[in-house]
Amino acid sequence: MHANTGVDRNEPYVESLRIEDAPTGHATQVAPSTTDPDWWRTAVVYQIYIRSFADGNGDGTGDLAGVRSRLAYLKELGVDAIWFTPWYRSPLADGGYDVADYRAIDPAFGDLGEAEALISEALALGIRTIIDVVPNHVSDQHEWFAAALASAPGSPERERFWFRDGVGPGGDGMPTHWVSEFTGDTWTRTTNPDGTPGQWYLHLFTPQQPDLNWNHPDVRREFEDVLRFWFDRGVAGVRIDSAVLLVKDPALPELPENPAPGEHPTVDRDELHDIYRGWRAVADGYPGARTLVGEIWLPDIDRFAKYLRPDELHMAFNFDFMGRPWDAAQLRDSIDTTLAAHAPVDAPSTWVLSNHDVTRPVTRYGRADSSFAFTSKRFGTPTDLELGTRRARAAALLVAALPGSLYIYQGDELGLPEVEDLPLDLIQDPMHFRSNGVDPGRDGCRVPLPWRITPDGLGFGPVGAGTPWLPQPADWAALAVEAQESDASSMLWLYRETLRLRRAISELAAGEFRWLDAGPSVLSFARGDGFVHVTNLGDGAIELPTHTDLLLASRPLENGRLPKDSSAWLRTQH
Ligand code: NOJ
Repeated sequence: MHANTGVDRNEPYVESLRIEDAPTGHATQVAPSTTDPDWWRTAVVYQIYIRSFADGNGDGTGDLAGVRSRLAYLKELGVDAIWFTPWYRSPLADGGYDVADYRAIDPAFGDLGEAEALISEALALGIRTIIDVVPNHVSDQHEWFAAALASAPGSPERERFWFRDGVGPGGDGMPTHWVSEFTGDTWTRTTNPDGTPGQWYLHLFTPQQPDLNWNHPDVRREFEDVLRFWFDRGVAGVRIDSAVLLVKDPALPELPENPAPGEHPTVDRDELHDIYRGWRAVADGYPGARTLVGEIWLPDIDRFAKYLRPDELHMAFNFDFMGRPWDAAQLRDSIDTTLAAHAPVDAPSTWVLSNHDVTRPVTRYGRADSSFAFTSKRFGTPTDLELGTRRARAAALLVAALPGSLYIYQGDELGLPEVEDLPLDLIQDPMHFRSNGVDPGRDGCRVPLPWRITPDGLGFGPVGAGTPWLPQPADWAALAVEAQESDASSMLWLYRETLRLRRAISELAAGEFRWLDAGPSVLSFARGDGFVHVTNLGDGAIELPTHTDLLLASRPLENGRLPKDSSAWLRTQH
């Protein structure tokens, strides 16, 4: 047994489960299996953006106490795992993706003991815990970076980062002209102890997030050790932040105009595979299938799939699907490409409708152009939230019926829209500031969840709690968990029912996927021999294919027909 962990590394990673009756009137979720070594292949993973999930101590910021108080909600929702965005000690220059200490919980969220208790409590309910690991960069408050700044150019401390002399007279020019992922420069100049300008250091994101040098053995060792630290504490997997940015071309060339695959100086370099083979070996050293999930934004799906070879990552987020508009041909194309790319490496596809970086689906799907890209967010363009909600409901059934694992971003199960009118003085996202306000930033999808309807707010914290760190729109009262729990037509009910059936219908775990011909504006497919999914993206209601039972529909049928912008699950034989 490891100190304070409550988890014995040498015992199988298995709990005997007793799922108590659900606290509400719904059909109770069936206990998820924690014994299956392939659990991750079909898992439903719920993403917790911890600052905004639930506030346990009443200071206006979400925390571990808040999550612990809502584990019953997550069990009732029917998820297999929760993924925490960074919970580490951090100055929050980028919402926690600037980690000062990878082995400590930020005091705003709780402490290590609480994290360990949460991991055990969740597991006892059949819910595994996945945590974010941020390997590309650290916080400028991390002890390694402080030591590097305090050391001379050429010192071993600086070797763990990318410190370089500037070019041109006085070293005034940046070593390269790469553009930051958050727009702007990627180099910041240091100041020498005597006040003169010093070397420059590289940061692909903000200056508060200096990039690590992954050619350095200390860096490799350190992160494998961080993985062990958390696996020892019972976490079931890690989500790898900016997973294809870690390795840089040490020659630091300028960006070629059309880099061939593997030639980009900072993206998708071949050396990454060796790093992830090392991580996989660490994960495989633990019982119970500890998993690695990569945040991989790559347009080249074959390069993407290379990270999913059997000795590398288990899964990666399918952002291609997430970016596609509400259009049958587009979605079908993405599904085909995704399934075809994953098959040769025998990795499960993942299905993702949103996350803490992108526009909420209800808002996106209500727009005339419902695609998503960081370069064209269409923030503030008109949206029809009723339409967006109908489509988001249909999309929830669609992704839950596809083969692979499912990622749900907190609040999507409530149908929360993007908040597009946050007061400017409350915005915290560096993406907004670094673009000089051109990019709206990502705070609009990070607004704290509405739980209860109270005279003084929406129950983000306990009675009498402080104001949430971002204000919740007053009209979210109708979307609060409390309101939706008593409304069988709500998004929350739909999600609970979808996840309950997903677990109960064996074809959805293992049934072979096969398209059915239903016309150009309908997505219809079978899973195995007895289950059919239909999504109607056309202009009018359609006849359903022959079936024995209607299991679930995202909207009531109209005279037995499936209305537009809706999905249905059908049993086609017993
Ligand atoms: C991707 C994360 O999802 C995002 O929130 C963060 O800002 C960047 N990586 C940098 O860590």
